[in-house]
Amino acid sequence: MKVLVTGGAGYIGSHTVLELLRLEHEVTVIDDLSNSSIESIRRVEKLSARKVKFYQGNILDKNLLRTVFGRNTFTTVIHFAGYKAVGESIKEPLSYYHNNITGTISLVEEMLKYRVHNLIFSSSATVYGSASVPPYNENSELGQPTSPYGQTKLIIEQVLQDVVSSNSDFKVSSLRYFNPIGADESGEIGEDPKGIPNNLMPFISQVASGKLDKLSIFGSDYKTEDGTCERDYVHVTDLANGHVNALNWIEKQKLSVFEVFNLGTGKPSSVLQMVNSFQQHTKQRIPFEIVDKRPGDLAAFWADVNKAERDLNWSAKKSLRNMMEDTWNWQKNNPNGY
Ligand code: NAD
Ligand code: UD1
Repeated sequence: MKVLVTGGAGYIGSHTVLELLRLEHEVTVIDDLSNSSIESIRRVEKLSARKVKFYQGNILDKNLLRTVFGRNTFTTVIHFAGYKAVGESIKEPLSYYHNNITGTISLVEEMLKYRVHNLIFSSSATVYGSASVPPYNENSELGQPTSPYGQTKLIIEQVLQDVVSSNSDFKVSSLRYFNPIGADESGEIGEDPKGIPNNLMPFISQVASGKLDKLSIFGSDYKTEDGTCERDYVHVTDLANGHVNALNWIEKQKLSVFEVFNLGTGKPSSVLQMVNSFQQHTKQRIPFEIVDKRPGDLAAFWADVNKAERDLNWSAKKSLRNMMEDTWNWQKNNPNGY
């Protein structure tokens, strides 16, 4: 299949591009490299021994989109491009609303003009907010996300649903990711955050590599088994393969459709369990201290994954051990990222 991947140089995008190339799909990437490096694309090409058609630029740039859609034919677009830092989105809401929402509108307008009707969108478990009790299934009530970043995901899902209602050809699969971590088992590609990481796994791995002194654990008196927050961590390669299955699913749909799928493992792990698991499987010591809760954090959430299993024929295969070993393999081989 011929697939356009926006944001394909980023963390989840690069792992998905790799899985698509391994299955011999033809991949074109648009990425402005605002949060990534062209090196990820070079490495993916090397690992798969196949080529990516790469356009450096922004999906808000209509001329670029016309060039890309005019010169290529695509069956499906996988849309990762967007800003994703929760804290930054609170400080710079307009830039998040503009880049994520207007960017998606700009992309979908061109898709419709060029009659490309299949879209796979990167959504997030953050859309469930605090309205429902975990495990969340796709019919769980949607809440008020705690950040402008989370709002953009909720709004984009709504926009896409409305486009589907107005167009008898347009098909959307919105994938709600839980907590993606890990790296390709080659150790050649992985998560490469700019500055001090906000998310748990990159923080732990930078403590292990000696770049950071110790981990701060945000709160230990949550109503969970050990008092620290629980999340559904899913290996990024499993997540990438979820996109491959969604691609097969969307190509088979005859009628216009908007369908959401949770992508997670269905199993929660606490922050302390993550630290212990990392230490056990990598033999690295992670000093930590317990500090105040982080505003906006929910005590626990994880996915009900039955729908993805049933309809996409997808389930996460990799263990917590794989997630820890692969995270460390990437970090120790690339202490300064790409
Ligand atoms: P990432 O920042 O590594 O990748 C996003 C890519 O998009 C980057 O390469 C960036 O340069 C590019 N980009 C951003 N805005 C662009 C624009 N306007 N035009 C062109 N390129 C642009 O992030 P990621 O972790 O790979 O996440 C991918 C998608 O999945 C994002 O939409 C994110 O919101 C969503 N998501 C991520 C997580 C997570 O934990 N990583 C969880 C849920 C949802
Ligand atoms: C965060 C975002 C969410 C986004 C997701 C993926 C918030 C409130 N939510 O989810 O919208 O979709 O990332 O990018 O930011 N932790 C520590 N110490 C740290 C870092 C994290 O104890 O230094 C804890 C957190 O309290 C949390 C868990 O580790 O309980 C996971 O945190 P993180 O990786 O940031 O993911 P989420 O908060 O689940």
